[in-house]
Amino acid sequence: MVEENKNIGDNYDDEHMHNGSDSDGIKELNNPAPNWILLVFMLTYGFSLFYAIHYFGYPDNGNDQTSEYKAKIVAAEMDRRQKIQNAGGVVVLTKDEILAAGAKLFVQKGCIACHGTKGEGNNIGPNLTDNFWINGCTPENLIAIVTEGKPEKGMNPFKTMMTPEQIKNITLYVKDGLVGSNPPNGKAPQGVECKP
Ligand code: HEC
Repeated sequence: MVEENKNIGDNYDDEHMHNGSDSDGIKELNNPAPNWILLVFMLTYGFSLFYAIHYFGYPDNGNDQTSEYKAKIVAAEMDRRQKIQNAGGVVVLTKDEILAAGAKLFVQKGCIACHGTKGEGNNIGPNLTDNFWINGCTPENLIAIVTEGKPEKGMNPFKTMMTPEQIKNITLYVKDGLVGSNPPNGKAPQGVECKP
């Protein structure tokens, strides 16, 4: 046997072939994996760390399954609405969406400057959170005052600054979001109480 093994190569001897461990005469060969395999192993190891942190480590980075699912639901809904609009249909917003859109417009269009950030009223404009109205409280009254304004009293017309749709949304926000919200420092009521 020994003689045959000697033919393997000049490097053959116990020191090179064995890594020193010996259990009951069974010797482990000194035969490490090639460097390229070690390199591939290191790369997959590094990749798995990156992958785990990226997809599971930060639940708020939007890459976890739940966020991805929610984003897809929103995208599908947008897509559905776009298709309805493309087909000439009208997308009906939910009440919450109308209120949210109105609340945004209330800030964006500068209503807060004269009616306060919570619609509580200030030195310039009346309180929009009580149910007292100078100019009437029907939806038509509200749309009219926002559309045409009342420049002589200091209320701007918004017909050139908002679409009719936006004006409608903002008046719905005034009626359903602001009225009854009872913010601190509300201005004293002006006008006539709205009776249902
Ligand atoms: C430059 C100041 C100013 C801005 C900006 C302004 N308003 Fe007014 N608004 C007033 C004043 C002043 C009145 C009271 C008019 C009156 O005496 O009849 C008023 C009245 C109103 C009324 C009727 C209140 C009532 O008691 O009849 C509504 C509703 C209203 N504003 C909504 C809005 C909305 C919505 C916006 C933003 C799109 C807005 N206003 C922006 C000054 C302003």
